[in-house]
Amino acid sequence: MDSILVTGNGPLNGQIPIAGAKNACLTLMPATLLSEEPLTLTNAPRLSDIKTMTALLQSLGAEVSSLQDGQVLAMSSHDLTSQTADYEIVRKMRASNLVLGPLLARFGQAVVSLPGGCAIGARPMDLHVEGLEALGAEIELKDGYLHAKAPGGLEGAVHEMRFASVGATENIVMAATLAKGTTVLKNAAREPEIVDLVECLRKMGAQISGEGTSTVEIQGVDRLHGATHQVVTDRIELGTYMLAPAMCGGEVELLGGRMALVESFAAKLDAAGVKVEETPIGLKVARKNGRVNAVDVVTEPFPGFPTDLQAQMMALMCTAEGTSVLEERIFENRFMHAPELVRMGANIEVHGGTATVTGVERLKGAPVMATDLRASVSLILAGMAAEGETTVSRVYHLDRGYEHVVRKLEGVGAKIERIKGQ
Ligand code: UD1
Repeated sequence: MDSILVTGNGPLNGQIPIAGAKNACLTLMPATLLSEEPLTLTNAPRLSDIKTMTALLQSLGAEVSSLQDGQVLAMSSHDLTSQTADYEIVRKMRASNLVLGPLLARFGQAVVSLPGGCAIGARPMDLHVEGLEALGAEIELKDGYLHAKAPGGLEGAVHEMRFASVGATENIVMAATLAKGTTVLKNAAREPEIVDLVECLRKMGAQISGEGTSTVEIQGVDRLHGATHQVVTDRIELGTYMLAPAMCGGEVELLGGRMALVESFAAKLDAAGVKVEETPIGLKVARKNGRVNAVDVVTEPFPGFPTDLQAQMMALMCTAEGTSVLEERIFENRFMHAPELVRMGANIEVHGGTATVTGVERLKGAPVMATDLRASVSLILAGMAAEGETTVSRVYHLDRGYEHVVRKLEGVGAKIERIKGQ
């Protein structure tokens, strides 16, 4: 298994290009299932999660061609052969469940494996099921699979979600595009990836309004057509690399970054003493003084502080002046990076969903283990700011969500290399 060797190397300077959003791409790809005509995505990120979704769509009979070094995905669901998403693929990646809504809408039936346990919590699918049932689907759990059917087609309805789940919003919105009549989805998630999905669906002929607010209205149409769509910038990759100069010093410009994608995160950085400026081509980030100040963080659905940046923010807080409290409200088990950061000399106490971090002057390099995608990159950031060498093992987690991480960080002056495993 490969690992990453990072050596603390002082301030960073230069530019880092930000890729298209993994999470947007993972919901835009299943949208191909809604139409017989081709859907082409540009600005796709080159990640193993995208390969997993490609394999899933191909297992359903879709054609998926990866062009221009993976940045363009040309897809066609003209001749689908199956409506079953197999456990072998779904267990690798929870976002596989995003084929449920589109398959059900287009074919009146779908069989999708439950994702099962995941390192950062239970992550059930009850909110997806409730929303699709509100549209008239009958859904049964058999042998670990959700068997969904709507023989007479789905019908629009008013439905309020108990919690603004991102994936459930995406599944329900996609399903409603081909339902009869109007669907009003209340307490919908407002993430930029949902806005991006709706923009793409609209290009395909869907009639949707209210995306980006908590009430989304979808007027069902008979069919959707082909489209070409550019995937929105990855706000989590953006936020992650914004932390690199915050932790190591220097000034880095994140190409393609926009403030609107990271408003609440940038506000926390500002309070910590990190300057974030919008430029014509991205966001420029620099640390104002020596050490950053401790700030408290509570993770929330968008536009609140994103859970997917909590681990990286904790790495920053490890060397802040003072004590910060990080509260994780989205996932119940998302502090697995804390004991690894402690191995690097951090002072962290975890009680349930709250981590109290008292900053130390400098972290010290150590061998550490990545436990999930965002945890893995938080350890790399910590290693870049630490004294000495840090080896991060199990980097396959990293490959799921960060393309060319070594090249991007090396480009701004980090000392980082990938060590090939046996
Ligand atoms: C998406 C993102 C993920 C991010 C998360 C929260 C993708 C591919 N992934 O995941 O990176 O961390 O949003 O911003 O876009 N829940 C239920 N029942 C359900 C669905 C969810 O209880 O039916 C719970 C989950 O267990 C979790 C919380 O709701 O505790 C948030 O989940 P959700 O918003 O659905 O996240 P995902 O769409 O899975």
